Amino acid sequence: MSEGLQTVSYLGATILFILSLGGLSNPETAKRGNWYGIIGMTIAVLATVFGPRVTPGGYAFIVGAMVVGGSIGLYAARIVRMTQMPELVAIMHSLVGFAACTIGFASFIDTSTVFPTAAEHTIHIMEIYIGVLIGAVTFTGSVIAFGKLSGKISGKPMLLPARHLLNLAGLLVVIYYGYVFATAGSIEAGMLPLIVMTVIALLFGIHMVMAIGGADMPVVISMLNSYSGWAAAATGFMLSNDLLIVVGALVGSSGAILSYIMCRAMNRNFLSVIAGGFGSAEGQAAKPGAAPAGEVSPISAAETAELLRESKNVIIVPGYGMAVAQAQHSVYEITKVLRDKGVNVRFGIHPVAGRMPGHMNVLLAEAKVPYDIVLEMDELNDDFPDTDVAMVIGANDIVNPSAEDDPTSPIAGMPVLEVWKAKTSIVMKRSMASGYAGVDNPLFYKENNRMLFGDAKKMLDEVLAALKV
Ligand code: TAP
Repeated sequence: MSEGLQTVSYLGATILFILSLGGLSNPETAKRGNWYGIIGMTIAVLATVFGPRVTPGGYAFIVGAMVVGGSIGLYAARIVRMTQMPELVAIMHSLVGFAACTIGFASFIDTSTVFPTAAEHTIHIMEIYIGVLIGAVTFTGSVIAFGKLSGKISGKPMLLPARHLLNLAGLLVVIYYGYVFATAGSIEAGMLPLIVMTVIALLFGIHMVMAIGGADMPVVISMLNSYSGWAAAATGFMLSNDLLIVVGALVGSSGAILSYIMCRAMNRNFLSVIAGGFGSAEGQAAKPGAAPAGEVSPISAAETAELLRESKNVIIVPGYGMAVAQAQHSVYEITKVLRDKGVNVRFGIHPVAGRMPGHMNVLLAEAKVPYDIVLEMDELNDDFPDTDVAMVIGANDIVNPSAEDDPTSPIAGMPVLEVWKAKTSIVMKRSMASGYAGVDNPLFYKENNRMLFGDAKKMLDEVLAALKV
């Protein structure tokens, strides 16, 4: 393939990626957006593999790597459960960071490219240094995020004494060695500063994410998403690949916008997140699990059905438990029956419900719940006082009133769905266990709250059966 054809293909792929991002911003166009992305990526891979920079001798390596990588990816995609998606995404981000590091080292050792001017050589050297730096932080940060999300590492923040000073000292050493690296003049002299910086960046990635408490993980996920984009863009600079630069920048900036949205949703400070070491400045470790703090009033499935049948306005608030129980189809069936009876049923979606951005929207779309009754938290939070029943399905932290009333709570300040303002709230979960943030939930003990204990799918099926009688 000629260079001209490759450039045109890259341009086409870039347009498709932009269309893809545009499509993904709305559930109704998301499927189309996915297809744009798939076609764009196919064109990008083909144009790169058959482009002028790959010699025929390289095909065997590329095909071998694609078969191994593709098989692992296919296997992982087939076995992963919907509830494990955030962990999969985190570990995928770590691979982008790892690739940026290894490509950085390879570009540094590779002397085949001759730079016409000293300035261009220095720019290339700095691209390598910055690329490896971002890649190393992304790599270890994502591995720790994977560990925290999968429960292999404790979700509690690990707070080293003088941690901000440690980070600052690390930053100063990285800047100093950046200067040494840029002026080294030979591979031998430059290798030590590059290795020292890589080790510091790897440690910083671990330190940054270890310091973040459970409830703040959504921001970390979107932030690492953004970092992985910048790592890819840095790789694009190292390889002089325009498409990789553009795609990396698209991922980096959309991840940064998502981080901003997550921060707003959680009432956190965006700049302190971007700077790293976020979510723990106040030093609040999550309180230990839910200690009983009062009496709860249980309710049966039949009584729940009765309450729903007599309601005019119902708001359903889904959370992580709905994903675990795979209860979205039963939720849809109940919604259909109630709507047929003239009940106004709407869904209230918290921005950090579940374990990944848009988690609940994906599940409800899969179950074919109409988009126009699925509303954002801000769109219906004022409507709870006029609501007969607020049905909470496997959600906990996102409906916790202590976020509003208890300044010492680890989730203090996070906006929540105010289900307790409805005439009756019904919480569907298996036990009194706490949610992801590990904090007790005073909602359970409120006078107008009922607890429907059991697996969400089982209980919803029982409610559905009772509704149909
Ligand atoms: P959580 O607060 O984690 O609560 C989920 C509840 O579901 C649990 O209390 C659990 O109680 C219940 N549950 C689990 N399996 C169930 C089943 N089979 N049937 C019925 N109930 C079940 O979830 P949430 O309210 O959606 O809040 C999300 C939390 O995750 C927030 O703290 C958020 O910060 C964090 N987080 C979010 C993200 C993103 S990006 N969304 C990423 C990482 C972390 P039982 O065990 O008693 O059943």
